Formats: sequence, structure tokens, C-alpha cells
Amino acid sequence: MKKGYFGEFGGCFVPELLMPPLLELEEACADILPGEEFRAELDGLLRGYAGRETPLTLCPTLSRELGFNLYLKREDLLHTGAHKMNNTLGQALLAKRMGKSVLAAETGAGQHGVATAAAAARLGLSCVVFMGEEDTRRQAANVMRMRLLGAEVRPVAGGTRTLKDAINEALRFWIAEQRTTHYCFGTAAGPHPFPTLVRDLQSVIGEETKAQCRSAFGALPDVVAACVGGGSNAAGMFHPFVADRAAGAVRLAGIEAGGTGEPGCHTSAPLNLGSPGVLHGQYSMLLQDADGQILPSHSVSAGLDYPGVGPEHAWFRKSGRVEYHVVVDAGALRAFARLCRSEGIIPALESSHALAWVLENAAALPAGGNVVVNLSGRGDKDMDIIREHMPDLCLPARTAEKEDGLCHRQ
Ligand SMILES: Cc1ncc(COP(=O)(O)O)c(C=O)c1O
Repeated sequence: MKKGYFGEFGGCFVPELLMPPLLELEEACADILPGEEFRAELDGLLRGYAGRETPLTLCPTLSRELGFNLYLKREDLLHTGAHKMNNTLGQALLAKRMGKSVLAAETGAGQHGVATAAAAARLGLSCVVFMGEEDTRRQAANVMRMRLLGAEVRPVAGGTRTLKDAINEALRFWIAEQRTTHYCFGTAAGPHPFPTLVRDLQSVIGEETKAQCRSAFGALPDVVAACVGGGSNAAGMFHPFVADRAAGAVRLAGIEAGGTGEPGCHTSAPLNLGSPGVLHGQYSMLLQDADGQILPSHSVSAGLDYPGVGPEHAWFRKSGRVEYHVVVDAGALRAFARLCRSEGIIPALESSHALAWVLENAAALPAGGNVVVNLSGRGDKDMDIIREHMPDLCLPARTAEKEDGLCHRQ
């Protein structure tokens, strides 16, 4: 395959001024990443600081109800609460070896921003995070966490004031500050070499999952599902399965966000509902109108709210190796509630989309088989959204006897 391409997708469609830092990064990826010393230092950080390996948890209650064994890959237990830390520790370490002193990042749900801020603090780098104004409102707690970790958060007021606009601002910043700054891109998308770099740093998820499945039930799973925003947790989970011929029979399902599901609503499902085009330096699937103007995206989960997707997913879809489906907001919220109550785990709304697809399609999944959902993050950041959409879920569950002897809700 042509360098930087996945089939016809990928490439590096950027202004001339962005080519020098991208070429410098490509060279650093080739020279530094494979080095034994680099791998050992990254491995030490992933284990000793971030908390790898993350468990593969069997869900006993849901498994009984569904008729197959449901396992969760617990990226929610990683330091800072999501898979994003696998990527930011790797890129921060790389940036340091490249002699950079500043990490710039974009963030949607805030998870990548928090993970970049933490990696920067740990490795002694400065950090600037660009975040759409709408997302700073939806994910206010993460703005505070980034600031606590020493990062400067710059709200972005342009466009739809979400992730797409934050990426535009971060790319502009990188053009101006490329001598001192590494752009720590948060997902397996964007211009070459980011899709490959981020996927490789996230592949630890799939590698661990394969080994954990073999030791838990002596085989590879029947089905693996992951949510797809820009595509990094799914790429990291899927890639080791795609690369391994023996894993050819494992069914891989990427789940996009369908928004409210009302006719004509905005979605975040470019693989299912978009068409090919160029955005943020890559040729991939996009939500765009007939004139090539990018359409606004929408999802109840800020981390999936993006009109594009990484080019490797466009290729996986076209080649037929991975299937992609859409889950709407209400389905994700239902799955969120069911996991809380059945298994005592509060998932991120992003990951709830992947879980929802499994719950909604349980009858068609192999009875007695083994299904893995990548639980890409925890739901602590989503409390305000849950309160807004599911107020009843937030009421006290128990009743208590009050002085008048009647039962009242507490
Ligand atoms: C918990 C969680 N899962 C998934 C995503 C989507 O990103 P990606 O598709 O790159 O994994 C995000 C993005 O912020 C996230 O916070």
C-alpha cells in the first residue's frame, strides 16, 4: 500500500506550511518509536503510571440475560478515565525525544485534553488545549481537570464550536509554533503519519484483549465491538485482529453515533451516512453536502461528535473486514443505564454506543459465544448530560419510612 494510505484513503492534504513538522514527525516515528529504550520507557509509564494492563471483565448478569458471555475491555480504568492515555503518553515521550517543550491538543469530550495535560505534567512539558465552546459547556468538569493539571484551555468560538473547529485552531497554532511544539493529535485520523501513529499506540488494547481472551476461555472472541468517533479506540482494538490471519473469523463491529434519530437530524456517522472527501488533511468518509461543505455533526456524546473519521476505518469498511453500524442517542442512554444497574459500572456515553449495539442485536449474536465490548472510558464526565436526559435515573432508588409511617421517596 502507498505510504500513508489505506487503500485509496488517507494521505496528507495540508497547506505547505504544515509539511515541515509532519515530515519531522514522520522521521521521528521511524527513528525513535521502534527503539528498545523508547519501548521500555513507554511500557514502564503505561504500567506504572497509567495502570496497564486493563482487565477484561465478564458481565455475569448481562451474560445470563443475553445468552452469551459478555466481556468488557476496561479502558475506563486507565488513568484519567479513558483509552486516550495510551496515545498521549506515547506522543509526549516522542515529543520530548524530538526536543519539543510544548504539547498542543484538540479535545471534544475533554478526555484527550485531560490525558494530554496529564502526560505533559508527568514529562515536564507545557500544554495548550483547544476545545469548542459548546464542548467546554458540555464537559465543564474536564475543563477544570485540564486546568488543575497545568494546561491552558483555549475555547474555540468558530463554526459549530465542537471538535472539528478545535482541530482547525490547533492546526493553525501548530503552523505558527512548530519549532517548539508537538501537536498531540487525539485520534487515528488527520494527515499522515497521525492515523498510523495513533493506531499503533492504541494497539495495546487489542493485543491485551487477544491474550486475555485466550487465557479466559482458551480462544479468540466471536465478536468484538467498539465505538467510532475519529476512530482511535476502535483502530487500537481492531488492528491486532486484522493483522492476525488466525483471527480472520472474529467479527469486528464499529459503532457510529446516529444523533437523535429523528428524520433529517444531524448525526456523527460518516462511514454509514457520508461520502468520501478531504477534511483535516486526510481523504476519508465525511458528512458533507452536495457542494462538499462539511455538515454539522451531532451526538449526545461529545467524544463521537465529529463529521469525519480516520482513513483506516474507511478502508476497513470498503474492504469488508469490519462492519459499521449506527446507534442513536436513546439507545446509548438505555445501554448506559442498563450497565450501571446490572454490573455496577458507569460507562462513558461514547462506549455506551458500542454496548447498545450488542444489547439491541443480542438475538443475532452467537448463543453461548463470547462477545467483547471495548469500554473506552468511564462516565464520570457525563453526569450533567445524564441528569438532563434521564432525570429519573438520578432519583434515589430506595424508599424509606418517614414519621407518618408512609413510604416516601427520599
Ligand atoms: C471515552 C471515549 N470513547 C471514545 C471516544 C471517541 O474517540 P475515538 O474514536 O478516537 O476512540 C472518546 C473521545 O473523546 C472518548 O472520550
